[in-house]
Amino acid sequence: MATRKHNIFVTGALLVLASFLSIVMAEKSAGCGKTPTISSKSYTMTVNGKSRQYIMKLPDKYDHNRPYRLIFTWHQLGGSAQKIVNGEDITKGGALPYYGLAPLSNNSAIFVVPQGLNNGWGNAGGEDITFFDQMVKTIEADLCVDTSLRFSTGFSYGGAMSYSVACSRPKVIRAVAVLSGGVLSGCSGGTDPVAYYGQHGTADSVLNVSGGRQMRDRFVKNNGCTPVSPEPSPNGAQSTMLVYKGCKEGYPTTWVVHKGDHNPSQTDNGSSTPFAPKNSWEFFSQFT
Ligand SMILES: *[C@@H]1O[C@H](CO)[C@@H](O)[C@H](O)[C@H]1NC(C)=O
Ligand SMILES: *[C@@H]1O[C@H](CO)[C@@H](O)[C@H](O)[C@H]1NC(C)=O
Ligand SMILES: *[C@@H]1O[C@H](CO)[C@@H](O)[C@H](O)[C@H]1NC(C)=O
Repeated sequence: MATRKHNIFVTGALLVLASFLSIVMAEKSAGCGKTPTISSKSYTMTVNGKSRQYIMKLPDKYDHNRPYRLIFTWHQLGGSAQKIVNGEDITKGGALPYYGLAPLSNNSAIFVVPQGLNNGWGNAGGEDITFFDQMVKTIEADLCVDTSLRFSTGFSYGGAMSYSVACSRPKVIRAVAVLSGGVLSGCSGGTDPVAYYGQHGTADSVLNVSGGRQMRDRFVKNNGCTPVSPEPSPNGAQSTMLVYKGCKEGYPTTWVVHKGDHNPSQTDNGSSTPFAPKNSWEFFSQFT
């Protein structure tokens, strides 16, 4: 009798513990509850024997019990992590600081700004994906991250790197926003769904729009969305947004086409505010 009660108690306690752990472990990184050692500054780590740098930006009043979004912002070719932090002249083809996402995130996100070897993302032998893996591991051991809310964005080579992360780490990343990208950092894997926002200009003179459409179409297919033809066109100087239908639950797919050139800060007619930040933040923040 006593043994039986004891067994019921133990079984019950284990069930409670197991469900508690599954809730906690599904969402919260190991850094939750810890006093952080990482702060908003530049860090160095060794990846495959090479020294690699990245800059961190924590939310104001970082709360170690709150699981934050984790957003990777990759720079363009010839850009740098510091230029993403500082921002560049948007009237001359530059991007806003953190691709304009930091103010929109209202302190709900931790930003990671990696620095590319030779200011690019050649990803030779997958070394930049390994760098990504190591950053995720190091950051999440120390900071409180919602591990179901990791995101990646970038312009040009930075878009290529986000695409590469979507191909290689579909279970790690929740969504990507690829701004005027091309397949420059490879696509190892690339058969699993990942929520995908793509944006491209029809007059892109650096990475043509057909390349951007091909990248998008990989995820239209992986995400089970219904393909659309003919291709949507910009409406004069207004961008056109296509939200695909029929996509698998949790894998929305959005395409924005504009009539501009290779530019992360394209604006719509009559506006001086680039649309990429708002569009990509709305895309990322639909996941909670
Ligand atoms: C920003 O976040 C704070 C705290 O989480 C919240 O109280 C506030 O309403 C938010 N502001 C906006 C504009 O969403
Ligand atoms: C677009 O760029 C790709 C890669 O550089 C090239 O192979 C392709 O021919 C280009 N397509 C058009 C329509 O210019
Ligand atoms: C831009 O907007 C103005 C005012 O709405 C309109 O007159 C003009 O035709 C538009 N230009 C283009 C290229 O769409």
